[in-house]
Amino acid sequence: MLELANVDAGYGGFQALFGISMSVKPGEAVAVIGANGAGKTTLLRIISGLLPMSSGAMTMNGVPLREIPPHKVIATGIAHVPEGRRLFPRLSVENNLKIGAYIPSARAKFSERLAFIYELFPRLKERRSQLAGTLSGGEQQMCAIGRALMSGPKLLLFDEPSMGLAPVIVAQVFELVRRIRSEGYTVLIVEQNVRQVLKFADRGYLLEAGRIKTSGTAAEMLASDDIREAYMGL
Ligand SMILES: Nc1ncnc2c1ncn2[C@@H]1O[C@H](COP(=O)(O)OP(=O)(O)OP(=O)(O)O)[C@@H](O)[C@H]1O
Ligand SMILES: [Mg+2]
Repeated sequence: MLELANVDAGYGGFQALFGISMSVKPGEAVAVIGANGAGKTTLLRIISGLLPMSSGAMTMNGVPLREIPPHKVIATGIAHVPEGRRLFPRLSVENNLKIGAYIPSARAKFSERLAFIYELFPRLKERRSQLAGTLSGGEQQMCAIGRALMSGPKLLLFDEPSMGLAPVIVAQVFELVRRIRSEGYTVLIVEQNVRQVLKFADRGYLLEAGRIKTSGTAAEMLASDDIREAYMGL
């Protein structure tokens, strides 16, 4: 589904990613783990076209994504649930969801998808007129996921969905992601909550200082002494 080959990227003169090669197959849940500053968010920005790569190649279902603007990337079936959720706090829940359907192909299916999202997350339906900024952290994450689903994606990119949430809410957010996955979506998820994300994912990649240090099945990664010591405090 998604393939990256030898991707380099950075900001101005600063190189943040070095020769990243990875893949996500249809129906998989793939985790990217790594410390603060490892390049996880940068990687998702590259995939969703928010940041251009400096070299390398990327395809989505065979369509080359290099130098495609973000709205065209969305049209290939990729949707990004960004770090920190990035809702419009002074707009209602429903208007935030509407914003996710701005590409032409999604506009036609607006009502159908809204109904699906309200069925998936009844809480959002209850609170559809509430300003997004007044939702609880877990509800905001639900709204951000709902917004991403409005474009009718195949692959969802999650950037630390559990960030800044209390442990009990973190468990709920993982439950949400699990549900999205069971609905048939393919998932690429970045998390610092290594143990929880590897329990949920099929495979994982460990990023260190902009490079893929290790990759393997989630079970292999959970069993790796390096990962346990450095990222799970064991
Ligand atoms: N807009 C930017 N301009 C310059 N450097 C940036 C910019 N955004 C990120 N960087 C740098 O790129 C590197 C990778 O950052 P990135 O945000 O991808 O890390 P991350 O793995 O997502 O970290 P975190 O877990 O803290 O979110 C860091 O050294 C960061 O300082
Ligand atoms: Mg980040």
